[in-house]
Amino acid sequence: MATMKIPFGTVSITDKSKQLVQDCLDKGRISSGRLVRKFEEKFAALIGVKEAVAVSSGTDADTLALAVLYELGASRGDEIIVPALSFVATGNAVLHAGFTPVFVDVDRETLNIDPSKIENVITKRTKAIMPVHLMGKPAPMDEIKTIAAKHNLFVAEDAAEAYGAVYKGQKIAGIGDIGAFSLYVAHIITTGEGGIIVTDNEEYAETLRSLRSHGRACKCKQCISNISSGYCEKRFSDKERGDIRFIFERIGYSCKMNELEAALGLGNLDIYHEILEKRHNNLLAMIEGFQQFSEYLWTFQEDANERIGPHAFPFVVKEGVPFTRDGLMLHLEKNGIDARTLFSSIPTQCGGYEFLGYKPGDFPNAEYIGNNGIHIGVHQDVKEENISWFIDCVGKFIKEAEKRYPEK
Ligand SMILES: Cc1ncc(COP(=O)(O)O)c(C=O)c1O
Repeated sequence: MATMKIPFGTVSITDKSKQLVQDCLDKGRISSGRLVRKFEEKFAALIGVKEAVAVSSGTDADTLALAVLYELGASRGDEIIVPALSFVATGNAVLHAGFTPVFVDVDRETLNIDPSKIENVITKRTKAIMPVHLMGKPAPMDEIKTIAAKHNLFVAEDAAEAYGAVYKGQKIAGIGDIGAFSLYVAHIITTGEGGIIVTDNEEYAETLRSLRSHGRACKCKQCISNISSGYCEKRFSDKERGDIRFIFERIGYSCKMNELEAALGLGNLDIYHEILEKRHNNLLAMIEGFQQFSEYLWTFQEDANERIGPHAFPFVVKEGVPFTRDGLMLHLEKNGIDARTLFSSIPTQCGGYEFLGYKPGDFPNAEYIGNNGIHIGVHQDVKEENISWFIDCVGKFIKEAEKRYPEK
């Protein structure tokens, strides 16, 4: 019987958020407006970029980050390189944007795209690389940027899980041409549901504002946050003032963030650094606690030139050990520890991708992790005693397994 409960996630809603939500409700002002703009400005400052554009989900953030490519001459069906192992949304976003995902296997040590395999899949139709910083571990951005520069490719970072991640002194999501975060409840900054795209390029930001609002003609900051006026003073002279609500210049989406979501996000930003530090300490304590299991279980390490964004704690059952991933997960669940599998190889383990024609065995590392990986929460409500309980549980499980199958 479990004596402790360690849930996978938690959510912190501050008094400021509650107050802002109440204000919105009292004023009846709930669709995208002033609070969304404020949230975007604060978020951009946090990442150290010029622009942030808030949308309805992390999947929309990935999708729009790629849809910008049409302004740069891309055609529907062009190819985007993504890692085979990620949350399925990475692959889905490529398809939602109208492109073809081309998958590359990951490195088992880092969980991230293996840069040595990228050039093999570049064709005339390749337009971008979308690295994912899985579980907050920075992808090898130097190698990726070198390949991108050589082949004239755009780099869109899927930083959904990478809050607080730093690569060689640079904040993740601000290293490529554009970066995308998820603001879903499982993430370090949350608006409940939501996503946000960051970039230093003001033209991309204007396109993103149009894309999130059906492809509307005007993308200036004033208009999009005050679309109900229907007119744009910046873009149109008095004479030619049109009703910009119904001028559409590109194929867009409907994925604006609303004021209630921004209110939650604004409160979260106030406690961001506190949450980040707590989660990072939890992550390091788990990595440290797992050193003793290195014969049986693999986990990533934090390298000297990086800081892992503390999204969750991943570990993978090694080959030839006397237990299975599912047996270990069951044991954790019985002991009150919420555990999740470590995603899947999108092209070969997610049914919807069969139409692309990849075969099992094409992505051995992603598939191995898909069959043998686990992740658990490192969130701000996980306490020292929870971590000790977790490490003890794993230790006892391994001991029991060794007793049952000593020959293994
Ligand atoms: C790597 C990755 N990309 C994209 C997403 C999509 O985010 P959302 O669930 O907000 O659509 C997630 C979600 O957790 C994710 O982990």
